[in-house]
Amino acid sequence: MDLTAPRRHGPVSIRLVRQRDARQLQTELLSNREWLRPWEATSPDGPVSFDMRLGVRRLLQQYRDGAGVPFVMEHDGNIAGQLNVWGIARGSLASATIGYWVSKRFAGRSITPTAVAMATDICFTELRLHRMEICIRPENQASLRVVEKLGFRYEGLRRRYIHIDGDWRDHYAFALVREDVPEGVLQRWVSGHAPHDAATVPPADRLHA
Ligand SMILES: CC(C)(COP(=O)(O)OP(=O)(O)OC[C@H]1O[C@@H](n2cnc3c(N)ncnc32)[C@H](O)[C@@H]1OP(=O)(O)O)[C@@H](O)C(=O)NCCC(=O)NCCS
Repeated sequence: MDLTAPRRHGPVSIRLVRQRDARQLQTELLSNREWLRPWEATSPDGPVSFDMRLGVRRLLQQYRDGAGVPFVMEHDGNIAGQLNVWGIARGSLASATIGYWVSKRFAGRSITPTAVAMATDICFTELRLHRMEICIRPENQASLRVVEKLGFRYEGLRRRYIHIDGDWRDHYAFALVREDVPEGVLQRWVSGHAPHDAATVPPADRLHA
């Protein structure tokens, strides 16, 4: 399995992060503080150092350990953001979770849904995973649109689930299993066959409607 080769759809591509991306990623993260902060994972133990050289090194170590797949998303060859497959569980679970961000100037070009579709397809076909999950804060309308577009299925409300922006935050969980998408996530979406209501949150779980 060669995950080092970029995957492309139109102007959007994903490829494994490289150690030499650290400097640019750090610049993007620092110049997009206001944009990213409300959605960014934080440590319950207090502030941690913000060093992307170390961050990328850790991500690549997790990749070598089989625990994750750290992609960068590119638009016309320019780094737009990161898409991280993390928490890979093998065996009877065969699942993983996807997280992502793009710099503000790249928002609104469907870079993330395209990249999530390609990454999910890689996980199902090449990594032989069975279930892919995305967890989103109820307030994050832009991210909720990503799972809506791709037809990820709403699976439930997780109270105080992930430490984000300095506190434990409720999340909605969305998922796809391999059998949901025999034709692939990207193909299902671009051919207009992604179900429109799969990601709909039932009224009882709507915290911030
Ligand atoms: C969530 C996010 C990754 C979406 O990425 P994207 O590549 O812009 O995705 P899309 O182009 O499909 O846009 C999704 C929605 O964002 C909204 N959006 C578009 N342009 C926007 C902009 N300039 N500013 C704010 N929101 C915008 C629109 O509602 C859009 O839905 P639409 O296409 O139906 O109009 C991106 O907004 C982001 O990085 N946000 C900050 C970090 C974050 O929230 N990460 C996810 C945590 S779960």
